[in-house]
Amino acid sequence: MGKDVIIACDFSSKEETLAFLDKFSGKKPYVKIGMELFYAEGPSIVKEIKARGHQIFLDLKLHDIPNTVKKSMNVLSRLDVDMVNLHAAGTRAMMEGALEGVTRPDGTRPLVIAVTQLTSTSEERMQEELLINSPIDQTVMHYAANAAKAGLDGVVCSPMEAGKVHDTCGAGFLTVTPGIRFADGEKGDQVRVTTPAQAKEIGSDYIVVGRPITAAADPVAAYERCIAEFVG
Ligand code: C5P
Repeated sequence: MGKDVIIACDFSSKEETLAFLDKFSGKKPYVKIGMELFYAEGPSIVKEIKARGHQIFLDLKLHDIPNTVKKSMNVLSRLDVDMVNLHAAGTRAMMEGALEGVTRPDGTRPLVIAVTQLTSTSEERMQEELLINSPIDQTVMHYAANAAKAGLDGVVCSPMEAGKVHDTCGAGFLTVTPGIRFADGEKGDQVRVTTPAQAKEIGSDYIVVGRPITAAADPVAAYERCIAEFVG
């Protein structure tokens, strides 16, 4: 399983997204559809990209009471995506409900990945506003362990945390890692970044790459550079 490059299609319309994917003539990269595109275009954009032959990570980060998440995941399971996610902060009962809901009648299901603490949350904000007194890295590992106990497949984390997540939750527990930049590229608003090659070295299973590919002069070449560095 795994070792793939997922392109974050952070566009706000179907036209822009399909025009971007058309550049890959013949190639079918794994794509991430987030809230922006999903809320703009609805489930039809997922069906359309799936019908074009792409694998899809539907990044909607569910977080609600267990019954609502279970039923919502059941609806999402019909979109036939390959990966979905939720917030580990929803507790193990919510994660278990999600797994039950997302399992299709034939027993298959997409990979289910947990968000631990968002990388936009600093340790200071987490402690002061959320009243979580532990250090943030301990909180992240604890949430990852909860996700593993609930039966989830992995977590979204910084590539820098991927090794520690594998040590805590097992080598088979997946790490899906944004925060990827080329050695000679712009960091933008990402702070703790690694190159695709470093992410491979630390043991990421999937890298999620947005602007280094979507904003590149030649997106296909940038994607292939990611594949060459990360998958080899
Ligand atoms: O453009 P860039 O490569 O920074 O895009 C990274 C993608 O990964 C974006 O879709 C962003 O929302 C997502 N992401 C992230 N950090 C997280 C979780 C998701 O950058 N902790």
